[in-house]
Amino acid sequence: MTTSALKSLGTAALFALGMASGMVRAEAIHFPAGKATFDARCAVCHQAGGKGQDGLAPPLTAYPGHYAASAQGRHQLPDTVLHGMYGEIHVADKTYNFKMPNFDSLSDDELAQVLNYVVFDLNASSHGSAKPFTTAEIKAARAKSMDAGAVYAQRTAVTKALGLR
Ligand code: HEC
Repeated sequence: MTTSALKSLGTAALFALGMASGMVRAEAIHFPAGKATFDARCAVCHQAGGKGQDGLAPPLTAYPGHYAASAQGRHQLPDTVLHGMYGEIHVADKTYNFKMPNFDSLSDDELAQVLNYVVFDLNASSHGSAKPFTTAEIKAARAKSMDAGAVYAQRTAVTKALGLR
């Protein structure tokens, strides 16, 4: 092989490596177990990557980060997945009114992981200095006697306090 052929082979290899590492970076998931649960249990309504579906389920790509980062809003996330929610809501000026089922059959760990995937992988620009959810927080939320209507009423107060519409 000539020197120039070797050189171009080297360039091609470097290029391929760069592409591959770029792809790995773009797809780096902080909470892969949470993503697996999300893809299996949540994406049917909220769609892959939580982008939402008009007329069915809201996007989970902005509000959950704000909830997780605030003292008043944080518990809204475990409460929603454990107790469900229904009633008309607004997310980024769109209206949704369908039933969010409860997922109390999932373990504390599965729920902490799925919420961490939502907050840290899907809300990178809004979670601020939020800390990851722990199994203890899920356990505490599970112990509350709350129903889907109470979660809805609480959401109204939380979104108002956080200035979200
Ligand atoms: C059957 C469809 C469906 C499935 C499956 C589903 N959701 Fe939902 N989810 C909804 C709907 C509908 C709402 C809005 C409810 C309302 O209008 O009150 C919602 C609301 C939410 C909210 C509140 C958003 C906000 O702005 O307050 C979160 C968080 C959420 N879902 C997370 C999840 C997670 C995590 C899973 C999987 C474990 C999941 N959902 C599975 C339909 C679904």
